[in-house]
Amino acid sequence: MSQPLTAVPTRALAGTIRVPGDKSISHRALILGALATGRTRISGLLEAADVMATAKALEALGANIRHINGSVEVTGQGIGGLRAPSEDLDFGNSGTGSRLMLGVVAGHDMEARFTGDASLCRRPMARVLKPLQRMGLSTGEDERTTFPLTIRGTPDLVPILYTLPVASAQVKSAVLLAGLHAPGRTTVVEPVPTRDHTERMLTHFGAEISVKDEEDGRRTVTVRGDAELVGVPITVPGDPSSAAFAIAAGLICEGSDIVLEGVLMNPTRAGFIETIREMGADVELLDLRLEGGEPAADLRVRYGPLRAVDVPPERAPSMIDEYPVLAVLAAFAQGETRMRGLAELRVKESDRLAATAAGLAACGVETAVEGDDLIVMGKGSVSGGGTVETHMDHRIAMAFLTLGLGAEQPVTVDDIGMIATSFPAFVPLMTKLGGQFR
Ligand code: S3P
Repeated sequence: MSQPLTAVPTRALAGTIRVPGDKSISHRALILGALATGRTRISGLLEAADVMATAKALEALGANIRHINGSVEVTGQGIGGLRAPSEDLDFGNSGTGSRLMLGVVAGHDMEARFTGDASLCRRPMARVLKPLQRMGLSTGEDERTTFPLTIRGTPDLVPILYTLPVASAQVKSAVLLAGLHAPGRTTVVEPVPTRDHTERMLTHFGAEISVKDEEDGRRTVTVRGDAELVGVPITVPGDPSSAAFAIAAGLICEGSDIVLEGVLMNPTRAGFIETIREMGADVELLDLRLEGGEPAADLRVRYGPLRAVDVPPERAPSMIDEYPVLAVLAAFAQGETRMRGLAELRVKESDRLAATAAGLAACGVETAVEGDDLIVMGKGSVSGGGTVETHMDHRIAMAFLTLGLGAEQPVTVDDIGMIATSFPAFVPLMTKLGGQFR
């Protein structure tokens, strides 16, 4: 049953919050912990439905995962040491968990059936299956490329050199994880650098990995297979994609002054902060430091006027999940904002390009989609008053609840159930800052 929620216009958000752990890093910490020998103690793991689905799949494959004194401990089986599951691997809503785990299962002598919810079963898997098939993965006779899908891995994977046809950290990571199980060197070439958590964490676990930035902007990542990973402690910094909603609320609710503690500041995830600064946002970075091998900072955000921007397509990978909430900010800015090159938004948990444009229209904002560009006509304020369809998409739900806090009239989203996939504490944390919901 769907669970609607209404965000009520609110002024002067105040206070300090810590957003939950980064989702991308949380998936990877569990997966590498399971592929390592010994124990990996993870603090700050995001305990949301997507990450729990990955944990459950790893347990079905023989890893031991348990809570100890507020952190999570994974006892790994070593590279190639997982066992065939006796049940389907159900990844719920999670594209990241499922695609990364395709790379892991590819290197094991086993058959596994991958499945998920209605949204995940519509999402394209060919982008991951193609390179993995070149390495030796088989996928049955009927050439399906969506879940449910039965795959057969092999202990005899071959290393490959693969140039990504789309900028996707998930595809890159799946190939690198498979590469751990292949003899020799597996190389991925990316047209534009995407989030590099897999590379950083592999280094942390003791894998041999090299990263080279080419003069033309491409990045080449090479991992040596048949490596040994050794369990290590991991601290997961706060998720910048979750922080983006609170940041946006602080920028559009008049009189706000808020602090977000311990937010991941990895440059491959920094496109949103870069863009809102171009819009004139008052965001101050306090105490930039390293947390578990990743840069993190506290962010102070204050309300103020925003101006329109033109966001170049090459910035998309560094803020791919933030476009719905950036589009919300664009509606509160003065002038026409154009966000370029958003084709990948069409294949996320929903068609986010269409869902964002429709949601803005329902809130009285003029928008257009031209090719792969999203255009938002900002008028400095937003009337609101509408009901937004979330299409089972957590980020659409949170973006439009955020809009409702800054609008003139309340905004209702049709279902908040999916928010639990990435940010279960969204409503309580926004309420702590002074946000009002009913
Ligand atoms: C992710 C990569 C991105 C992003 C997703 C998380 C990851 O997807 O949208 O939420 O953790 O690797 P793509 O790699 O498909 O762009």
